[in-house]
Amino acid sequence: MRYKRRKYFMAGRINLIQRSKIRELFEKARRMKNVISLGIGEPDFDTPEIIKEAAKRALDEGYTHYTPNAGIPEFREAIAEYYKDFYRVDIDPDNIIVTAGAYEATYLAFESLLEEGDDVIIPDPAFVCYAEDAKISEAGILRIPLRPENGFRMDPDEVVELVTKRTRMIVMNYPNNPTGATLDKETAKAIADIAKDYNIYILSDEPYEHFLYEGARHHPMIKYAPDNTILANSFSKTFAMTGWRLGFAIAPGQVIHDMIKLHAYIIGNAASFVQIAGITALRDKRSWDAVKEMREVYSKRRKTVLRYLNEMPHIEPFRPKGAFYVWARIDPELDMSSEDFANWLLENSGVVVIPGTAFGKHGEGWIRISYATKMDLLTEAMERMKAALEGL
Ligand SMILES: Cc1ncc(COP(=O)(O)O)c(C=O)c1O
Repeated sequence: MRYKRRKYFMAGRINLIQRSKIRELFEKARRMKNVISLGIGEPDFDTPEIIKEAAKRALDEGYTHYTPNAGIPEFREAIAEYYKDFYRVDIDPDNIIVTAGAYEATYLAFESLLEEGDDVIIPDPAFVCYAEDAKISEAGILRIPLRPENGFRMDPDEVVELVTKRTRMIVMNYPNNPTGATLDKETAKAIADIAKDYNIYILSDEPYEHFLYEGARHHPMIKYAPDNTILANSFSKTFAMTGWRLGFAIAPGQVIHDMIKLHAYIIGNAASFVQIAGITALRDKRSWDAVKEMREVYSKRRKTVLRYLNEMPHIEPFRPKGAFYVWARIDPELDMSSEDFANWLLENSGVVVIPGTAFGKHGEGWIRISYATKMDLLTEAMERMKAALEGL
């Protein structure tokens, strides 16, 4: 038999996932001058000095080798201590794996738990990686709509309606990217009960837990369903450490074992000196002082953005109590899709926002504005946006 020569080979699996649909918008923005991006999903702050110093010291002290796959024991203990101090939850360090950010934690959960024939419930809108991770795992995806009238919380009754004997996992993410919504204790408990009753795992991705406003509190799902929750968390947002790639997952017995097994063949371990710096981040009061300062700055920016948006015609913000995003509804009378609106705004004001559809089809009619941008640029962007919208 003769084979047709192909230039290169690839697994069909890779075609299941997509690169971000908003690349074109960013490409267009790159070709323009004087653009302000409110599209960014990472802190504009530098990592607190105390954490950087700890990493430098660790390098000098010889933390340049492999570590145990699950992470340095003292770091896993520090993570367990942190949950005890902040949330009064007892975690065994053996149930913790240190990962390369929450991205890896999430990927490990999908790949260890799901396969063809299983279903996973994913909110819509939601952060982009869950659906793509689900596709690689070949699980079926059920999207559950999040609505402004529920404060973008998952409705437990709707969750139950989607559950079948194929359902293996429910994804949650509070404080939420893209809506900025937070979770209330009642919803947390109700979804925990569903997970327990139907024997389903919850993947709870909680990297924005320290960015809360107007008295909102965080409710880690592990508190309500410890035997069913895989908690993904990260140092990226809390300590402005996106480039360090440091995160972790907490999961029950067999699950953590399987996640560690997979992780051992992907990255082996998170960088050793980065883990040592992570211990300082969690245990040194000065790093928490820095988190407090960042939260206060975000809080001022949030108020500014909301004040501006409330004054603008044709746009209506949801009042977020968490993260560093504002989710805003485009006036339906404009008859513009989210993508049209984001393009129009870029062309007419030089401001980049993310079209809501980047996060799922229920994001249609909405945009995401990030306020992880310095105040002067943020105000300038708001002025420009206001002028463009007033000119319509
Ligand atoms: C909800 C959510 N989860 C996970 C991540 C990935 O974060 P990390 O840098 O920890 O991999 C992000 C980053 O934007 C996020 O918004």
